[in-house]
Amino acid sequence: MEQAITRREMMQASAILLGGVCGCRVASDAGVVRSACCNSPDLEAESLTIHEDHLAIDLTKAASLEDVGNAAWITDEGKGLKLIIVRVGRDEYRVLSRLCTHGGQTVSYNPKRLLLQCNNFNHSNFALDGQVVKGPAEMPLKAYPVTRVEDTLVVAI
Ligand code: FES
Repeated sequence: MEQAITRREMMQASAILLGGVCGCRVASDAGVVRSACCNSPDLEAESLTIHEDHLAIDLTKAASLEDVGNAAWITDEGKGLKLIIVRVGRDEYRVLSRLCTHGGQTVSYNPKRLLLQCNNFNHSNFALDGQVVKGPAEMPLKAYPVTRVEDTLVVAI
């Protein structure tokens, strides 16, 4: 069965093949959402308390972080926070910006590869400390210090 391709799709594909322009940035500039969709849930609101300079997360109420390998979104429009929290070990959590530094698309946690990857064509990859593992992103994701006090995570913001 034949499928029509738009001029924009043709140009994006050509740019990627030629290696000159990143397709996701072109797509982003055009306002076209190309995300592969992040399946991370929102962190349970009842587990989160937002303070002036830190977040407090009650792990007894954070079902989305129950298992190692889980990740959840933390969003606060007032503070402009768009974060992802990842449970990378039994007692190890990481909190980072979830916006790819290349074109601002959402990143997801890949527990098999132990890294964060941009949803946009899976281009950029980031280590759990936010450093770029694979571009086109050049700048790291912002990472936020996390400490655990009994059943509460304290995230400095
Ligand atoms: S937005 Fe381009 S690699 Fe993430």
